Amino acid sequence: MLNFTFHNPTKIVFGTESIAKLNKLIPAQARVLILYGGASAQKNGTLDEVKAALGQRLVQEFGGIEANPTYETLMRAVEQVRTEKLDFLLAVGGGSVIDGTKFVAAAVPFVGDPWTILSAGAKIESAVPLASVLTLPATGSEMNNGSVITRKETKAKLAFMNPHVFPQFSILDPTKTYTLPPQQIANGVVDAFVHIVEQYLTYPVGGMVQDRFAEGLLQTLVEIGPKVLAEPENYENRANLMWVATLALNGLIGAGVPQDWATHMIGHELTAQHGIDHARTLAIVLPSLLNVQRADKRAKLLQYAERVWQIREGDEAQRIDAAIRQTAEFFESLGVPTRLSAYGIGREAIDTLVSQLEAHGMKALGEHQNITPEVSRRILEGAL
Ligand code: NZQ
Ligand code: ZN
Repeated sequence: MLNFTFHNPTKIVFGTESIAKLNKLIPAQARVLILYGGASAQKNGTLDEVKAALGQRLVQEFGGIEANPTYETLMRAVEQVRTEKLDFLLAVGGGSVIDGTKFVAAAVPFVGDPWTILSAGAKIESAVPLASVLTLPATGSEMNNGSVITRKETKAKLAFMNPHVFPQFSILDPTKTYTLPPQQIANGVVDAFVHIVEQYLTYPVGGMVQDRFAEGLLQTLVEIGPKVLAEPENYENRANLMWVATLALNGLIGAGVPQDWATHMIGHELTAQHGIDHARTLAIVLPSLLNVQRADKRAKLLQYAERVWQIREGDEAQRIDAAIRQTAEFFESLGVPTRLSAYGIGREAIDTLVSQLEAHGMKALGEHQNITPEVSRRILEGAL
């Protein structure tokens, strides 16, 4: 096992009726900004419930954070927090709203151009305290310190990570996911699945417990994937999806093991250039990446085949083929296409995607840093 430090300070408050607990979780004197997305949190009553729980505190709102949140929109929230001297940020929504809130939290006290937090890894000395009420299980943003922001102007989708932007707490009420359209639920299953794979499917380092955790989470997703779509109001299934998605990217399964975030990095370029939902970009890239990198990932692919998909027949190459095929078939079974062609994207798009990867410094990806732009090109060609 590799050396590691693991520290996750986010408190999770899980279950029905938990929004009412906001009153105890946020300091009584706090000047709160509620940040949310489009209309969903208003329509399904979550926003009203949040406001009611905040009682007599000074509360302002900032709505309109887009899916794949933009720097341009978020800088308006930064202005509001600075002008109104707000001191607590509460995200109500999915990964986009939470990521956006993390950026606002870091940008408010930042001296200099806040875009450099993303473009140049500028040092963050502090952040406004933040918390979340999660309405979409997918990204794990509710319990991690990552954030992905898009600059509309330049079509750059970039990430930052910083310990100051861990949410102080996150409220996870599975009943708040009942109103999600099927496409977003399917996206959530795929995003969580790929997060787990990217921390698991590299090369063995004897992380027995990390492997078994990862396999358990993957098997749970395979089991509940069809059910969360078929029965939107089945509490147990939605609760399990929510907890799996959080555990998939809260640092636990990735501690002490190699990681390969190439699927995400290539996927971010697909979203930035073509507007494809985040999870759908992963469904396109992952099967092809596993195929192109099959020699490096051989031992883990065989373990994945056997322990997650119970594939025991055939020689090694056949078992690896079957595992990659079943992965793609699982995504397809959820209604998530795994080929670029299904999104109307052809070979002519690949040059730009590869040059954008280079422009963003994504020239040595993967657990061995051997996914060069040329290898990314082969991965994209394999996904046509
Ligand atoms: O905007 P509204 O009207 O709220 O609608 C949203 C949005 O259109 C809707 N929605 C959310 N909760 C709902 C609901 N509709 C009905 N009922 C509800 N309860 O769902 C749509 C998608 O929301 P979004 O937040 O964009 O989705 P998701 O949670 O998948 O987040 C995707 C973003 O997270 C980033 C992605 O890159 C992308 O920008 N990621 C963040 C990560 C992190 N911080 O660790 C890791 C991930 O890999 C990912 O990169
Ligand atoms: Zn993701």
